[in-house]
Amino acid sequence: MLEISRLSTENLTKNCVTDNKNPRISFALKSDREGVALKRALISVNGWTVETTEQIAISYAGAPLEPYTEYLVKVVAEDNFGDRAEREMTFRTGKLDDVWQAKWITDGSYRFKEKKTSPRPMTFKHRFIFGTGVKRIEVYSTAIGIYKLFFNGVAVGEDYFAPGFTSYKNQLQYQYYDITELARDGGELSAVVSGGWAVGAYTHKRRNRIYADRQTLLCEVRVTFEDGSVKVFGTNKNWYVTTEGRYKFAEFYDGEIYDAACDLNKVTWRFATEKKMIGKRQILAQYGAPVRAHEELSPIGIMRDGDEVIYDFGQNFAGVIKVKLNGKEGQKVVFRHAEIMQNGKLFTTALRSAKATATYICKDGEQSYSPTFTYMGFRYVGVSGIEEDDIELSAIALYSDIECVGTFSCSDERLNRLQSNIAWGAKSNFVDIPTDCPQRDERMGWTGDIAFFSPTACFNFDMSRFLNKWLIDMQSEQGLLGGIPVIIPHVSVPGVFETTVKMPIDFWGDSCILVPFAEYKARGDISLLRRMYPTMKRYIRACKFLAEFLSLGNNRRVWSFHHYGDWCAPEGNWKSWMARGKWTATACIVNSLNILSQIAGLLGEESDQAYYKKLSEEFSEGYRYAFTDRNGTLKEEFQTAYVLPLHFGVFEGEEKKNAAKNLLELVKKVNYRVGTGFPGTPYVLFALADNGYVNEAYRMLLNEECPSWLYEVKAGATTVWERWDALGEDGSFRNKDENDCMVSFNHYSHGAVGNFLYSRVAGIEPIEGGYKSFKFAPVIGGGLSYACATLDTPYGEIKASWQRREAETVYSISVPVSCECYAEIGKEKHILSSGEYTFKEVD
Ligand code: BGC
Repeated sequence: MLEISRLSTENLTKNCVTDNKNPRISFALKSDREGVALKRALISVNGWTVETTEQIAISYAGAPLEPYTEYLVKVVAEDNFGDRAEREMTFRTGKLDDVWQAKWITDGSYRFKEKKTSPRPMTFKHRFIFGTGVKRIEVYSTAIGIYKLFFNGVAVGEDYFAPGFTSYKNQLQYQYYDITELARDGGELSAVVSGGWAVGAYTHKRRNRIYADRQTLLCEVRVTFEDGSVKVFGTNKNWYVTTEGRYKFAEFYDGEIYDAACDLNKVTWRFATEKKMIGKRQILAQYGAPVRAHEELSPIGIMRDGDEVIYDFGQNFAGVIKVKLNGKEGQKVVFRHAEIMQNGKLFTTALRSAKATATYICKDGEQSYSPTFTYMGFRYVGVSGIEEDDIELSAIALYSDIECVGTFSCSDERLNRLQSNIAWGAKSNFVDIPTDCPQRDERMGWTGDIAFFSPTACFNFDMSRFLNKWLIDMQSEQGLLGGIPVIIPHVSVPGVFETTVKMPIDFWGDSCILVPFAEYKARGDISLLRRMYPTMKRYIRACKFLAEFLSLGNNRRVWSFHHYGDWCAPEGNWKSWMARGKWTATACIVNSLNILSQIAGLLGEESDQAYYKKLSEEFSEGYRYAFTDRNGTLKEEFQTAYVLPLHFGVFEGEEKKNAAKNLLELVKKVNYRVGTGFPGTPYVLFALADNGYVNEAYRMLLNEECPSWLYEVKAGATTVWERWDALGEDGSFRNKDENDCMVSFNHYSHGAVGNFLYSRVAGIEPIEGGYKSFKFAPVIGGGLSYACATLDTPYGEIKASWQRREAETVYSISVPVSCECYAEIGKEKHILSSGEYTFKEVD
């Protein structure tokens, strides 16, 4: 029997509201037979029907869609056995091109001039009487700042930090909420808008007012009556506003101050001021993944430090506390957050200037509180101002609504912990944009971090909407000469050169190729590559130009200039990391060109395909010429300088063998400890294992000596650290930076090793986008007795595992309908169509 196991529009299986005029429809199939593939499918929407053999991102191409309308999607699929299946779903269109009847409003009398802090939150309100015969009440709203709506005091929707962070001068999302049940009888709609990313303090230099001088709100309430008539009520100068509401302060870094005792009837309300918004930003229905509440965590331990009761949640993560308490009017309860403890105290030095504090001022009696306009990266919370018995504390993890699609487990519990740490690192840093860290005064969209981590991210989560949104910003912020800003959405940080000049920088800039390619490989939507292709080409042209600038001969194929180099390598500091830039950058461009050539091939751009391939080979030659003796030995040796060319295909034949041997020698010298910074870390185990050193790769993976992944695990880490040696053997905090403190305990970059866990230890790797074809080739070693991975691909579920029993290894693999698996079991190769397979290999 054939079944459509998943049907989505714009990658959502439900609640899709879109302004895409050609929404993309995808479906997965399931069958109890083997060898099943889609023969043809009929997709119909709005009187348009298409026959297709594709299952991913089929774009609607019928008559223009109407705004504010629900559409039915129907898919009828037939497989190669003649079995048929049907499934339907609905989606809604947003405003499409309809103009906003609402006006942007603000508190015109509020002057916000202070530096390095955030504005007072604004509270807007308006009373509604809808009358009888109401069928539907819908809200379309957005803000400059971050906002939350309440109807008669009840929170509307589940989103945090709406409208999300985008390159506000180019695009802004609006949210859609159906409030029919909440609002049918009329009442008061209020909106609290805090500074967020646009107006509040942001970046480690605490710039504020980056996108606007003050917060603004735009909101339309659209009421449809039983008789079909429609009335739209929009924000305008008749709305009220105050900056004396319950939210006294809100900021991502410093936290929130909430006064529950504040009587909103007693504060001064003024009429809002209408504001003309300049610029040509597009305002589009939410197309990213909204931040929502996910896991709720309970404390696993409680300790005391003076007046403070410290709760341990047992897990480092990004989120907020959630409390029930018994208090007296005016009582001030303070919650401080930290990732680690030192000498029995909350350790906040690593947060730098971020206060990460929530202050709650009580009303009388039983009450509850959870911050709305901030989040912290923490494991421990110190509470003061209340007796322990009067408070019940839990915490909620906040992160973008990305579906978990992958699991990895094996017989070594330490690796399972590492996998969990990697996943938590990802969740903590997928808070609307891919951030570097969730705790200190940074939390920015550093492009390099996600460039390294994206393959791992895509194994674990469906990143499509999240990355798609961020990549739209990347495209619109590309420099005129082709450079990609190192922070997206782009914010220039005073005094930080790389953020002010949009110049190409190795890996960070190459994120425009690496990230969409990783996403395409996982989810198979080629339209992403098509859209990003011009950006990639312009970027590469800029890189080539810089490499050639003032260079002659083979040096024209050495990309020196200004790079982040071996960022966060165990030894040295930022100067010595950056001094390795010419190695990392030259190897990096070889890889990017290679990928770009593959992408050109996929898009049918044949001459580009050949051109980028050739250019990649020239840069390979440049690397060998400038840095090696042309026989696989580097003139100046360090792990990353071998890892990158080995993994990116710079060497061949004997040279490759020698390079791998040389890498091994370096690794042995440091007793199998990791010696790589951000660029080498994702690939070091591949460079060993794929070149004949499987046991050695496992030895490094399982090493517990610092620097290594399992050193962190042994030290009790529950996420992945920015610096390999953030804690000493005795558990004490280490900071090697002279004038700065760059030690985050929740930086996912080094967690890029997750790619190795899935694609070598468990052995699954996509070949064609979306796993239409994929490889199953586990690399067994390290004394593991089993490994298992599951992946919810766009075509259906893959389950891969192997288990060793004495002299026998049993492998199993399931292949989704329409997919093909290239299995390499020992020396045997098999091509498998859909179904479940088991193989036995005897030693
Ligand atoms: C961030 C990194 C980032 C780097 C680039 C750091 O401050 O935390 O993860 O990629 O700067 O310079």
